[in-house]
Amino acid sequence: MTQHTDRAAATTPSDVPSAEALRSLAAAALIAARDRTTLLTTAVDEADLVRQHSPLMSPLVWDLAHIANQEELWLLRAVGSRDPIHPEIDPIYDAFEHPRAERPTLPLLTPAEARRYGHEVRARALDIIEKTTLSAESVNGFGGVLTGAGAGFAFGMVAQHEVQHDETMLATHQLRSGPAALTAPLPPPAPADAAALPAEVYVPGGPFTMGTSAEPWALDNERPAHAVDVPGFWLDTTPVTNAAYAAFIADGGYDDPRLWSADGWAHRQRAGLTAPLFWSWDGGWVRTSFGVPEPVVPNEPVLHVCWYEADAYARWAGRRLPTEAEWEKAARWDPAADRSRRYPWGDADWTPERANLGQRHLRPAPAGSYPDGAAPCGARQLIGDVWEWTSSDFLPYPGFTAWPYKEYSEVFWGPEYKVLRGGAFGVSPVACRGTFRNWDYPIRRQIFAGFRTARSNTGRSNTARSNTGRSGVAESA
Ligand SMILES: [Fe+2]
Repeated sequence: MTQHTDRAAATTPSDVPSAEALRSLAAAALIAARDRTTLLTTAVDEADLVRQHSPLMSPLVWDLAHIANQEELWLLRAVGSRDPIHPEIDPIYDAFEHPRAERPTLPLLTPAEARRYGHEVRARALDIIEKTTLSAESVNGFGGVLTGAGAGFAFGMVAQHEVQHDETMLATHQLRSGPAALTAPLPPPAPADAAALPAEVYVPGGPFTMGTSAEPWALDNERPAHAVDVPGFWLDTTPVTNAAYAAFIADGGYDDPRLWSADGWAHRQRAGLTAPLFWSWDGGWVRTSFGVPEPVVPNEPVLHVCWYEADAYARWAGRRLPTEAEWEKAARWDPAADRSRRYPWGDADWTPERANLGQRHLRPAPAGSYPDGAAPCGARQLIGDVWEWTSSDFLPYPGFTAWPYKEYSEVFWGPEYKVLRGGAFGVSPVACRGTFRNWDYPIRRQIFAGFRTARSNTGRSNTARSNTGRSGVAESA
């Protein structure tokens, strides 16, 4: 893959929100995020809030006060120049000072104290958003500063921070034991034309614009826009389904070291992996979804698999994981206009018809759903449903500048982390776009991650490998 010189996507004046639009966008995003935070932290009792449900996760009450503490640090102190409310608690809620495993041992605020703190911070934050004068530069992305007139990005950063914790808290809900706490919402709409979709779509070769220099709330790791030459490749039209994954299991996928990378096989042995997290065998595959056991739904994207499992599956299918650049090109590049879109469907903001985001359904939609969200190449569900593992390590784009601090992205660069793209049903549209990058260790399974596979434009497709019918996942849902 060749890196070219920076060739930023064209930004028309209509792409840039006005200061007033950004102000109301920020306030609405913060209020919506808090509604979700409140739901996730009132759905369980006090004992459940302070309990650690998994060493991988914080007690929910830590998230609750940490959200308020970050909002205080950035909006009240940095933007609004207000005095600290509770400076003594800052170290307790500094994610870099205390790994998740040790957070239950800290002198945390009680649930009542955390809620009171959150209300107090929020009231002042909304006041600051209303009264801050924003510069045009600040409205159109990084203002160079987070204070005063440069605060436009800070509003978006804090809103994205809270919804990212809403996603983390949803993962905690999935890990907790005991009776279901979240009410099952309506299932996502099934597509009418899924059976007629091709197994894979072609993305022609050539340069495209990756990353962004124009998206107002894009984080440092999404910047700057730059041209990348991606050879033509084939990509699965939809994420890999439970039925396809069950066929991999039934074919001995977990028992054949030839299908796994050396590190992956070592991990598979050490961790005793035999199926996705939350799956169990009871005459057929059953999975527990937010406390409710259910037969694994064949045509839903597979969920809660680690990078090593995704990599092994792809090898079994005679394919590979897409690179991060391939994923973004499939999701954003419009060959007719020779430009990169904000989303697969275009530049317009998300709507519920375009992607499964925002914890509306609490499960992925069947493969092939959301025709209104299809990319120009024909791929579906690139945004929403499940995070998609890519083959790529988490690395900076050429011209990267750390912002607002090195711990945001820079300290994570390197081969330890693999990139995930596209967001999942637990992700808010505020923190999801065609350029958004997520990263995690290749062993992680508690995140809402699945994948799709790709192949280079050489040789023949092996994608016709079908479910044998003996996989433990019924063909019809
Ligand atoms: Fe955080």
